[in-house]
Formats: sequence, C-alpha cells, structure tokens
Amino acid sequence: MAKTKIAYFCQSCGYESPKWLGKCPSCQQWNTFVEEILEKSSASVPNWKSSPASSQRANKPVEVADITFKEEHRLLTPDKEFNRVLGGGIVAGSLVLIGGEPGIGKSTLMLQLALNMPNVKVLYVSGEESDHQIKMRAERLALDGSQKLKVKSQNPEENKGCYILTETSTQNIFKQIEELQPDILVIDSIQTLHSSHVESTPGSVSQVRECTAELLRFAKETSTPVFLIGHITKDGMIAGPKILEHMVDTVLQFEGDRHHVYRILRTIKNRFGSSSELGIYEMLGEGLREVSNPSEILLSQRDEPLSGITISATLEGMRPMLIETQALVSTSAYGTPQRTATGFDTKRMSMLLAVLEKRCGFRLGAKDVFLNITGGIRVEDPAIDLGLAAAIISSHEDIPIPTKTCFAGEIGLSGEIRAVNRIEQRIAEAQKLGFEQIFISKYNMPTAAKDKNRLDLSRYTIDVKVVGRI
Ligand code: TYD
Ligand code: MG
Repeated sequence: MAKTKIAYFCQSCGYESPKWLGKCPSCQQWNTFVEEILEKSSASVPNWKSSPASSQRANKPVEVADITFKEEHRLLTPDKEFNRVLGGGIVAGSLVLIGGEPGIGKSTLMLQLALNMPNVKVLYVSGEESDHQIKMRAERLALDGSQKLKVKSQNPEENKGCYILTETSTQNIFKQIEELQPDILVIDSIQTLHSSHVESTPGSVSQVRECTAELLRFAKETSTPVFLIGHITKDGMIAGPKILEHMVDTVLQFEGDRHHVYRILRTIKNRFGSSSELGIYEMLGEGLREVSNPSEILLSQRDEPLSGITISATLEGMRPMLIETQALVSTSAYGTPQRTATGFDTKRMSMLLAVLEKRCGFRLGAKDVFLNITGGIRVEDPAIDLGLAAAIISSHEDIPIPTKTCFAGEIGLSGEIRAVNRIEQRIAEAQKLGFEQIFISKYNMPTAAKDKNRLDLSRYTIDVKVVGRI
C-alpha cells in the first residue's frame, strides 16, 4: 500500500506547505491552512488521456508574424444575455467557471442552457442531485425551445439531446464522455468531483485542483467547451473558486438577492472578451428569463413625484441602465444616528453626507439616513453620486424631484461634480426611456470647439442641464 502523504493547503490561494502555518506566505491570509491527505501515485492510470505524444511534444518558438490565426469559432446560445457575458458566444475548448452562493440559480441556469441548445449534444454531469430531481427541474423549465425533453431522434448518430449523468468520479466521467462524445460538458459542481489520483475528500483544495486540471486538459485536447459550477459561501471561504479562477478561461459570477427575483450574471475574468459584461435575469416559477431592457423593470411606476426619490443614469458593464434610488432622512431618535444603505457602499454614503454637510451647509449630522437602490442590485458606478445626493436633499427638504428628471455625475470631496465615462450612452438611454431632463457634469462638456470627442447636444431632444458644483 502506498504511503500516505499529508500536506497543508491554503484555502484561499491553494499554497501547499509540508507543515501547518498560521499565515499564508503567498496570500498573507491568516488561519487558512487545512490538512489534506494526498497520495501521488507514480504509476497512475491515465486520467484525461495524458498521452505520451501530447505531453512530450516540444514546442519551438515561433515568430508572432508567422502564427496563423483562425477566427475562433463561437457557438451561439439561444440566451442573449449568456452570449453577452461570454463575449459573444461559447468558445470551443474554453473552461468556464460559474460561481455563486448556494440557491442563487446556477443549476437552473446551466440546465436551461443544456435543454435549449439547438443541434448540440450536451452532457450534464451532476454530483448533487439525482436524475429524478433533474428531470423534475427540467419539466419545470419546459420552455418553448426545450424540445429535447420530448423529441428523441431514433438514429443515435443524430441525437443532439441533453444527457444527464449522476457521477462524481472523474475517471468514470471521462469513460462516459469517450462513449457519448458530447459537444458541451456541464459539471455541477466541481466541489463534488473526486479524482482517484488524490486521496483527500471531494471539495478539498487538492481534489478541486486536480479535477479542474483534468477537465482543463480534456477541454483543450478535444476543443469541447466545459462549464464548471462552483460554490462560494457568503465570506468566500470554501476552498476552490479562488484557486480555480487562475486555471479557467472565464469566470462568471451569478449574484443577486435571493429575496428578489432579479439575478445578475457578471463576467469577472474573460480570456475571450470584455470582463465588464453583465447579463440580467428574472427568476420565475418556470426558470430564468432574460431581461433585455433592465431600465424598465428597475424603475417603479409612479405618477406623482415623491420626495427622496431620484433616477440615475448608471452604466453596469457596458450597459446603460436607469436606476431608481430612494433616500429617507429623518430626525434620529437615538444619540447615534443610523446610516443604512442597501445596494450601495455605506462608506461612500458617509462621504456624500459629509460633503453635503461641509460644502452645502445641510445639517445632516444628527439625522438618520437610509438609502435604498431598488431591484435588489448593487451599484458601483460612481455616476450614481449626483442622483443620491439629490435624493438625500430632496428627502431632507421634503421637496419632490420631477419624475422625468435623471442624473449622472460623480461627486468629489470638494463638492465638485466630476465627469463620468460614456456620457452619450447615458443621455441616449434616458432619452429613449422618455426622460425630459438630465443633469450632468460641466466637465463632460467639450472645452474647445474642435475637441474630437465633443458631446453634441443638438443630437438629443432631452434637456441636458450642466452643473459644476452641488
Ligand atoms: P438552483 O439552480 O438549485 O440553485 P444553485 O444551483 O445555485 O444552488 O436554484 C435554486 C432556487 O431557484 C430555488 O430556491 C428555487 C428557485 N427556482 C425558481 O424560482 N424557479 C425555477 O424554475 C427553478 C428551477 C428554481
Ligand atoms: Mg445547484
């Protein structure tokens, strides 16, 4: 019997050490080391065909001009939001990690994709649910496109269906893959897989790393796209996704508030496209539905102007979006005023309040201030500052802001309103949604008439108000 070898791994970055350490020398995190049993068998069974031919092939340096480049083939999915976050479709041989908290809808998203892909054979490997459970879910997701549930081709050669495999051993999975030859592979989830090459339990750092390495080899050698589902907890402590991020080509994060119906699929890393893309979904009883016009759902329907409510023209990824923010400023009942922000950074809110107090003379120090971004989404775009400040003042003074007015500007510490990027897109979106007035920074205006990037206001019918200070 082989001698067991024990090593210690950092759960945050995967650093390996022969003894336990309090602080990881690689990522400087404290208390992240866990003990794992590993066994490096020398006479190993081939995992993903690590054929001598491929591993011993020596590549020679090539001059970059001599490298022939083929336009990479991208497989388009019926889901436009998904294509967008991937940078325009699925790239052959890519390894994509989809992370997210438990219960957010990762399995639903991937099963829906597997069922709706036309003319493609998909293998959905689940280590978490039984095939009955998956079938039940598939029945719920029976959308128009999911003929794969009903129609089954008689000729196995032509069968482009969706196959379910409940298996957790990578060696067995590869055996099935060789028989089935799927065009797309989905793994739900990487934490449940185990490889016989490593002794430690599924979900441990060394297992996750080994299984991913095997799948990576499979993806690259066969040009099959592989989707991995990965779990993270609230504090991101579970082993896996952090080290996985380095190994895979694309990392997508599925996020959102479980109590809201909206979910955001965000690109964190993408070797084949922009990493600031964003897809929005709505979780319904029958699965996820793409939201192609997010502004409309994020704005509440109201006819009368109310105090404390403003609309900001923000940009999420490359996408303009109009978002409603609500503020409530009231006299504090306690000694220490409360400051709460939902969907917005509390520190930034404190900064805005300090600027309003110091530069504009509003007495907000003894007030409770509550901020809320509607729709349960989180906004990081600084262009929302101006809208938030307007909402705070509107609530403080109890003066409503007209419903057809919106804002886009960042606020600096001296109270100046700073320019924001892609202002044309923001103005155009506001105009499209029927707004009559938008407040922007004067620094977004061209300084010289011959400025190449000049903002041509005559193109818009919306009234653009330019402001320099709050
Ligand atoms: P799931 O995909 O299992 O989450 P994950 O794989 O990320 O852990 O989805 C979890 C939630 O989604 C679950 O609470 C039920 C809800 N849901 C719907 O609202 N509608 C549906 O059609 C489906 C399949 C799930
Ligand atoms: Mg799941």
